[in-house]
Amino acid sequence: MTFKILNNCNLIRNNTLALQSTAEYFCEVINTADLREALTFARSKNLAVTVLGAGSNVVLKNNLYGLVININLKGIRHSIDGNNVVLSVAAGENWSKLVEYALRNNWYGLENLVQIPGSVGAAPIQNIGAYGVELSDVFISLDAMDIRTGEINSLPHKLCEFGYRDSIFKRKRKNRYIILEIKIKLSLTADVQYDYPLLSEALKKDTQKPTGPITPHIVARTISDIRRRKYPDPSIIANVGSFFKNPVLNSDSVSRFLECNPLAPVFEINGAEYKVAAGWLIERCGFKGFRSGNVGMSSEQALVLLNYGNASSRELLQFSESVKQQVLSVFGISLELEPSVYGSF
Ligand code: EPU
Repeated sequence: MTFKILNNCNLIRNNTLALQSTAEYFCEVINTADLREALTFARSKNLAVTVLGAGSNVVLKNNLYGLVININLKGIRHSIDGNNVVLSVAAGENWSKLVEYALRNNWYGLENLVQIPGSVGAAPIQNIGAYGVELSDVFISLDAMDIRTGEINSLPHKLCEFGYRDSIFKRKRKNRYIILEIKIKLSLTADVQYDYPLLSEALKKDTQKPTGPITPHIVARTISDIRRRKYPDPSIIANVGSFFKNPVLNSDSVSRFLECNPLAPVFEINGAEYKVAAGWLIERCGFKGFRSGNVGMSSEQALVLLNYGNASSRELLQFSESVKQQVLSVFGISLELEPSVYGSF
């Protein structure tokens, strides 16, 4: 495919919430030469640049002014050093396929992150995580192009400032870099993590599980089953997975919260901070399975906001605001959106 820049492009197929949104300019890039050309074009017209991967963690408002670049760089390289496998993976690879590829090769460390939708390049931005493991646990470094200069920089783990659903790319370095490739370290030896409550319960109940040790393949299959039950396929009902982050409280606030809500699921992050399950808060406010017009919260997992079809970004964001308001008034806890919001109405 030759590189071309389109004008007034409909992005409905570029976001898994299926929102109608128009990019002033849009292009797909498959190599760094195309990317440099796209950035030169943006600079020449003084356009803002928005980077889009698989669109599985974004809310797009009606208009995205400037140039929207869809990163479609492909390629996976690996090297084996003793017990470690170092993988260099291009940003446009599909995350879930990467996990399957690693498992097929018996390279371990990604099994808990199976079936997470989205592209590899988006993974470090929110430090994707599930069932007790985060990308930061296997991450070594990434290569990124500086949007302002076109220079390629290598950023090691420490400089990415990873946190719970957080990194420097959501804060100080927001809209500064385009991630081209990530480097991760996997292992030839299994070290399965299955302490996460829903996962360990599911493993206990699994009667088809072969006897013997729990392998990464068993963990991946069990998580895939949980995810299939809880997270609707966006190609059937449009969604972005969790719509809110789990709020993080300090130990004083969490003690006060637990005094009033002793049954609430709370997970320790480090000695000083705790995550409260936002799905539980939303469910207690009566939103689980609640639908209003074209949008609603899933009946399987109250943290998942659904677009039943034809919702506008305004309707969707108004609905999410009413969920936030209700949680705030009932629990005094402020929810934050998990996906990034781009554009204007
Ligand atoms: N819960 C409810 N009601 C609900 C949903 C959850 O009471 O409707 C309770 C559950 O019973 C459980 C607790 O909340 O005790 C946690 O639920 P779950 O294990 O389903 O995880 P979560 O905290 O709701 C997070 C991530 C998911 C990730 C899972 C598993 C965030 C924002 N979400 O959800 O990530 O898959 O843990 O690790 O951290 C995503 O980011 O898009 C995503 C799907």
